[in-house]
Amino acid sequence: MNAAAVELAARNGRVVAPAVSAETPLVVQGLTVSYGQKAAVFSVDATAPPESMVAIIGPNGAGKSTVLKAVLGIVPRLSGSVTVFGAPFADARHRVAYVPQRASVDWDFPTRVIDVVLMGLYRQLGLLGLVRRAHRETALACLERVGMGDFADRQIGQLSGGQQQRVFLARALAQDADLYLLDEPFAGVDAATEKAIIDVLKSLKADRRAVVCVHHDLATVADYFDHVLLLNVRKIAEGPVATCFTEETLQKTYGGRLATAHIDQLKLPAA
Ligand SMILES: Nc1ncnc2c1ncn2[C@@H]1O[C@H](COP(=O)(O)OP(=O)(O)OP(=O)(O)O)[C@@H](O)[C@H]1O
Ligand SMILES: [Mg+2]
Repeated sequence: MNAAAVELAARNGRVVAPAVSAETPLVVQGLTVSYGQKAAVFSVDATAPPESMVAIIGPNGAGKSTVLKAVLGIVPRLSGSVTVFGAPFADARHRVAYVPQRASVDWDFPTRVIDVVLMGLYRQLGLLGLVRRAHRETALACLERVGMGDFADRQIGQLSGGQQQRVFLARALAQDADLYLLDEPFAGVDAATEKAIIDVLKSLKADRRAVVCVHHDLATVADYFDHVLLLNVRKIAEGPVATCFTEETLQKTYGGRLATAHIDQLKLPAA
């Protein structure tokens, strides 16, 4: 069933299982994750359609990062399945790049920017990790793409948060993945960096890659993304921005805590 048919069936009230196929970048079914007694994510279904930009939206503690980590196998799943391009994640991990939430990375040990990006080329470097000129040129080209070409020899720990964020994106670009998972790539960056990052993400989409971002800025959802997952431990809604990113689903997601003034500023689709 194609995306339009799934949407039509969903609108008609029919529950439709997400399409699992070799073309679909990501299908999550019945995902439950718990760090202790309480579920951080409960029974979540989600899909990243081919060549799409997907936003995962929800309040702090909603389980957004947990969904990405569970997809990547960084945290164990209590139940549920993850399918990447029709295969279990373990068989498709080489097609997936991940940019973690910035606060979760501590760069106190000395590492040059270029070496961080070269990590993205680990599959090409082989067991001995031999860096040839071509690898260095690829890494530099990725740094140029995010406007960080002049910083190649700097220590990563000496960069600002926004500059580090661009370097992590460059590392993900070096992986040349088909599915990009980014956890709050725009958090704490200035307007110029945000523009640089969204331009890169849009170019990935134009290049037929899928991009999934945890995203906090509700005001830019309609501009940046075409598909949303609204999450608050459980899935509140999922589908095209045009039909799922509504006042009703947002209020449900944020427990009715969004001010009307805030909602009015959003580019919501007409009811
Ligand atoms: N390693 C961990 N151990 C125990 N509890 C955790 C751990 N990581 C996350 N949690 C808890 O799981 C829940 C979901 O956390 P998660 O980081 O996925 O939320 P989030 O939606 O990404 O929030 P934020 O917007 O603040 O980044 C939270 O209640 C959090 O406290
Ligand atoms: Mg998070």
